Amino acid sequence: MAESMNGLKRTHRCGELSSANIGEMVTVMGWVQKNRNKGGIVFVDLRDRSGILQIVFEGDDKAALIDKAAKLRSEFVIAVVGKVEARSGAVNENLATGEIEIRAEELRILSESETPPFPIEENSKTKEELRLKYRYLDLRRPDLQRNLMMRSQIATLTRQFLSDEGFLEIETPILGKSTPEGARDYLVPSRVHPGSFYGLPQSPQLFKQLLMCSGYDRYFQIAKCFRDEDLRADRQPEFTQIDMELSFVEVDDVIDVNERLLVKLFKEVLDVEVALPIPRMTWQEAMDRYGSDKPDTRFGMELVDVTEVVKGCDFVVFKGAIENGGTVRGINAKGQGGMPRKKIDKLVDFAKDFGAKGLAYIALQEDGSMKSSFAKFMTEEEMQGLVQAMSGEPGDLLLFAADRNKVVWDVLGNLRLEIARQMEILDKNEYKFAWITEFPLLEWSDEQNRFMAMHHPFTMPMEEDLQYIDSDPGRVRAKAYDIVLNGNEIGGGSVRIFQNDVQEKMFEVLGFTKEQAYEQFGFLLDAFKYGVPPHAGLAYGLDRMVMLMAKEDSIRDVMAFPKVKDASCLMTEAPSLVDEKQLGELGLELQSAE
Ligand code: AMO
Ligand code: AMP
Repeated sequence: MAESMNGLKRTHRCGELSSANIGEMVTVMGWVQKNRNKGGIVFVDLRDRSGILQIVFEGDDKAALIDKAAKLRSEFVIAVVGKVEARSGAVNENLATGEIEIRAEELRILSESETPPFPIEENSKTKEELRLKYRYLDLRRPDLQRNLMMRSQIATLTRQFLSDEGFLEIETPILGKSTPEGARDYLVPSRVHPGSFYGLPQSPQLFKQLLMCSGYDRYFQIAKCFRDEDLRADRQPEFTQIDMELSFVEVDDVIDVNERLLVKLFKEVLDVEVALPIPRMTWQEAMDRYGSDKPDTRFGMELVDVTEVVKGCDFVVFKGAIENGGTVRGINAKGQGGMPRKKIDKLVDFAKDFGAKGLAYIALQEDGSMKSSFAKFMTEEEMQGLVQAMSGEPGDLLLFAADRNKVVWDVLGNLRLEIARQMEILDKNEYKFAWITEFPLLEWSDEQNRFMAMHHPFTMPMEEDLQYIDSDPGRVRAKAYDIVLNGNEIGGGSVRIFQNDVQEKMFEVLGFTKEQAYEQFGFLLDAFKYGVPPHAGLAYGLDRMVMLMAKEDSIRDVMAFPKVKDASCLMTEAPSLVDEKQLGELGLELQSAE
């Protein structure tokens, strides 16, 4: 039978006690991590979110207490009153509280526990599916508790910083209007308006722009966002943004306030100094040097354009790509020239996964000779020219892709990361930031056969490029920026269009008729008629930021209740079927599955 607290008050968390408390009577409460019965003396490791503490039950006059302690099992919830003492046995250096123990005077069993389906311990080897099914137990593990505590600290510091900077925290609706320009929307059927649906926000974008129209001049929100898209390690259907918008600002103002926010967060949470200014790179430079708009700048292995060098050669792969308007580019994997053929073949397969038709290589041997997949199609001078252009030295592995730029960048950008992973040169303790600026305004979609907004349709084109918006839309750059950390896009934003004619032009380029634009975004276009300040903003993916700061590989490890790949929750089993009556009230009827 469980006992009650009955007036007992916790005085300390387990991890808060140290040798400074020796001699004090304390009351601690938590979960039994482990219980060791040494015959006449029982040691219990007690755990709460702050750490683990050793309790000793011992003494000639304490037979009943020792008996009771001997019956404790893992995950029982107990309260212990006792005295803090120096460890009688060896000091445990692995434990923050390793120099002390509590000599118990009183024990209350507040709740018992069945044997948990997996042990509650750090670095669990338990399969993730099982952990997610019992997430409330998984969340007891010290690593996850640390992550969620860090997440809370980051949110608190962000609120403090932004409100000190004059930002107002304002909530925007979750039940909104579906504006399917971007990812797919989650829809919520309306009972009052049968056949009509709310859309859950993919971000508070339109509302925060309207708040600027309303004069709130600096807004922020830690906002839930919903996107029905394919999940990956860094993507969830429901995630959190640190979202902000500012009036009367330009790109530099947004960057300035955000650099100072990042400095504060990294200093206070990790004691890491972020050097300012954070390097800025245009999108074009990022693609040319790293083959990615979210470059990992912790290491080099930069792309080199060798199109000019191989232009005259007879190798059909290179020649054909150049004739079709593409390029030939390479990377130099320093010191990897001795890579076995099998491993190189694996890299070729990897490249093919990213759309490469093949991957040409030169492996420079230590003895000065070379192994190459395409030397037979080239002259000796052409090969030497290539090696030179790549700054190749004995022992290096040179890898080349020839194709349309988009493919070449994607292939080499990803190959560069894969080789760095294999070489184990990526250090999670190193934090390399970069701002990527001047993104293209538009991106051609083969699927939709039209231009799509690369960021979103409210992003301001660069004035000097506006002249091309009709003749060569793909050439127009935008006042958009992303903040990248160690190869992850942790945030993005832009200066917004605030002139009705430019906004209407943008919708036209995106293939909207005037009517369609008004139907979806009429409220914004109308708002722009009544005095709109120039404005700009940015949103971080909070989950991604915490993931990197906690040195985790997945955002699932920094969210309390994440979903799995098919967007379901293994614990609650959402989404679930609902009964006919509920559907009826919403005016919905299910099609029978074929
Ligand atoms: P964007 O779409 O770039 O911009 O989103 C901002 C940041 O949110 C994070 N993010 C995600 N995190 C987890 N799971 C997802 N599915 C997911 N999708 C995005 C990324 C990204 O950088 N309204 C604009 C911002 C603005 O212009 O102010 C927006 O939403 O880290
Ligand atoms: P092949 O003549 O098809 O045997 O190709 C010779 C070499 O060029 C092989 O190593 C191929 O993997 C490589 N290769 C083929 N297509 C490409 C390409 N688009 N870019 C780079 N290398 C390629």
